[in-house]
Amino acid sequence: MEIRAYRQEDRDQIIDLWTCCNLVVPWNDPLKDIERKVRTDPDGLLVGLLKDQVVGTVMVGYEGHRGWVNYLAVSPSCRGRGFGRALMTSAERFLMDAGCPKVNLQVRSANNDVVRFYEAIGYSLDEVVGMGKRLC
Ligand SMILES: CC(C)(COP(=O)(O)OP(=O)(O)OC[C@H]1O[C@@H](n2cnc3c(N)ncnc32)[C@H](O)[C@@H]1OP(=O)(O)O)[C@@H](O)C(=O)NCCC(=O)NCCS
Repeated sequence: MEIRAYRQEDRDQIIDLWTCCNLVVPWNDPLKDIERKVRTDPDGLLVGLLKDQVVGTVMVGYEGHRGWVNYLAVSPSCRGRGFGRALMTSAERFLMDAGCPKVNLQVRSANNDVVRFYEAIGYSLDEVVGMGKRLC
């Protein structure tokens, strides 16, 4: 799998990937999420490709204190081949290059099974309560 920064031509395939990976939820518009990311941090949307086909993504960003990862996805037909780990390694390298000391991520409680994937690649549970507030 080749991993590179997002290009405009990836957009529709990414939305299809996120949809089939159950990452699209009613309160998030994937098109707007891509547009906002590309506007603020164009190198932070990483795309995994096999023969020009989008098979993975990860969205990564550093806000000056912590790095954050969102929209990690691997196409169901390509799972179990180390692509998820490779995408996370690229995201971590992106953050380390920016001088970021720690990466955080949030897992929806309905997606608790994915915790075992993150544990397998070296992540552990933080003793925190996740909170949020919609701004628009
Ligand atoms: C999570 C996801 C990205 C994993 O991708 P993947 O390419 O199958 O993962 P990898 O092949 O790189 O697996 C890396 C390690 O995690 C383990 N692993 C992967 N999925 C696992 C699971 N569901 N349960 C337990 N372990 C898992 C693998 O066995 C492997 O361990 P090893 O290296 O010790 O053998 C993929 O399942 C996915 O896209 N899920 C749907 C979207 C999602 O939930 N994203 C995360 C939102 S927070």
